[in-house]
Amino acid sequence: MDPATAIKHHHHLTMCTGTAQEDYDFHTQLLGLKSVKKTALYDGGVPIYHLYYANDLGDESTILTSFPMRQSGRVGRKGSGQVSSISLSVPESSLGFWRDRLRDHGYEHTERERFGEKMLVLENPGHIEYEIIGITDDDRKPWTGSGVPADLGIRGVHGVTVSVRDLESSIEFMESGWNGHRTHEEGNYVRYEVGDGGSGTIVDFRIDADLPAGSWQYGEGIVHHVAFAVDDLDTQADVKDHLVGLGYTDVSDRKDRGYFESVYVRTPGGALFEATVSKPEGFLIDETYDNLGHDFQVPPVFADRAEWIKNYLEPLHY
Ligand SMILES: [Fe+2]
Repeated sequence: MDPATAIKHHHHLTMCTGTAQEDYDFHTQLLGLKSVKKTALYDGGVPIYHLYYANDLGDESTILTSFPMRQSGRVGRKGSGQVSSISLSVPESSLGFWRDRLRDHGYEHTERERFGEKMLVLENPGHIEYEIIGITDDDRKPWTGSGVPADLGIRGVHGVTVSVRDLESSIEFMESGWNGHRTHEEGNYVRYEVGDGGSGTIVDFRIDADLPAGSWQYGEGIVHHVAFAVDDLDTQADVKDHLVGLGYTDVSDRKDRGYFESVYVRTPGGALFEATVSKPEGFLIDETYDNLGHDFQVPPVFADRAEWIKNYLEPLHY
């Protein structure tokens, strides 16, 4: 494994949101993403939905996933040491369409610009900040089945912003452990890109020197983790060894997440990153293409209590 190239691009972003229904409607109806899987959290004894939204087949770097936390009553605390916003790529020429669409759906937004990129900024119903960013050269294929035409649709993850109290430890992690390269600086923002760079590879660090630390546990209103694709299980194991060798010892064992396999690392800046290997079958491992995302998939941990978990989880209409 070459530690200079192992981390390729974003794989998925995972948020702790509010109700399942609000979360589902926001991602499918407003953003026009496809529901590619409905399952529940693989960890813990109390069921929590795990909802996946993406393009047609759930390609790497187009995937957003949510744990709707409202039913559990657990609430997160925003702060530093956390992902403070996620950004999605749309064609730059579509920003007017998205401006109108947000307004028509009753979402307030603000507009700003960072590193020359124009964006619309809104909160999802779980109070997580989303940036819809206009990009000119993103050739990822959008999902069009939710009524947003291909020339206007969301291409996928653009990047994330991580709020940190100081930058030094994050620079060291990104450059020595996560094959990131620094590409831009502006005000209190510094941009890193992994792999070949560009949309879908970006981590912006925002220095918030005086911001108290946010919470890390599952809780409504925070981004839980940021997953990046690596090529195969050997590379993933090498990434883990490489991180531990550098002294980043808060690294998990490999976890089978059904559709991919995951290793998590608590980065020194606070955000939880994941090195992810997609399974060859991807989201088609338990559903056909025609049925993708249609039926609730009982996680293995609850396999012997399938009816119980379906009755336990809050109603979700789709
Ligand atoms: Fe993940």
